[in-house]
Amino acid sequence: MDNALTRAPLFEALDDEAAEALRDTMVEVTFTKGQEIFREGDPGDRLYVVLDGKVKLGVTSPDGRENLLGVQGPGEMFGELSLFDPVPRTATATAVTDCRLMGLGHQDLHTWLTGRPVLAQALLQALARRLRRTNDAMGDLVFSDVPGRVAKALLDLSERFGIDKPTGRHVTHDLTQEELAQLVGASRETVNKALADFATRGWILLEPRGVTILDADKLVRRAA
Ligand code: CMP
Repeated sequence: MDNALTRAPLFEALDDEAAEALRDTMVEVTFTKGQEIFREGDPGDRLYVVLDGKVKLGVTSPDGRENLLGVQGPGEMFGELSLFDPVPRTATATAVTDCRLMGLGHQDLHTWLTGRPVLAQALLQALARRLRRTNDAMGDLVFSDVPGRVAKALLDLSERFGIDKPTGRHVTHDLTQEELAQLVGASRETVNKALADFATRGWILLEPRGVTILDADKLVRRAA
């Protein structure tokens, strides 16, 4: 079975046989970079687990500004909220890179959840983790300045997408500077200024759609 799938919260809780059976109820779908997977306000009928690539979840304010709630990578899930609370999609999902996803129909998941409390527990845990992250991010919007939030976002992306190399921790986040700004909840100019400042200090090396973290300790201190 795909490595990313076995890491997903849904599968972690299952033995091999049950995991195979659940996998068989899922359908693989692919999207190309920039393609919309679903739109805020759409009726939701399935959740997705990312196998390859990255997906951003964004909301648009009435005056057209965009904010990113998160970026999901391999092994992470999205589109489950409309299952637990049957209202329209709460965000728009867009492929940041070409991506391969596994879709699971809400009806099929319902059947699984009824038969396996352990699966419900795993999903609740994933939701609790997300709520904690969201609370954290909300606190940061109030209590941290933009450079602090940028440092925190880089560390979070590094934890999830980083690879250690002799030169430092290489993080291909695949986000444009605009998207990075939307993730941090600040203007592109202020986020660029913070990134340039970190680079000048020798904490990071800026790359197109990525960054190499040269001094994580300094970033951790700046994020605190
Ligand atoms: P759903 O409402 O079905 O569709 C949009 C999805 O975005 C939602 O399910 C969640 O999976 C995801 N989502 C919503 N809010 C957040 C958040 N704060 N952080 C990460 N993902 C979120």
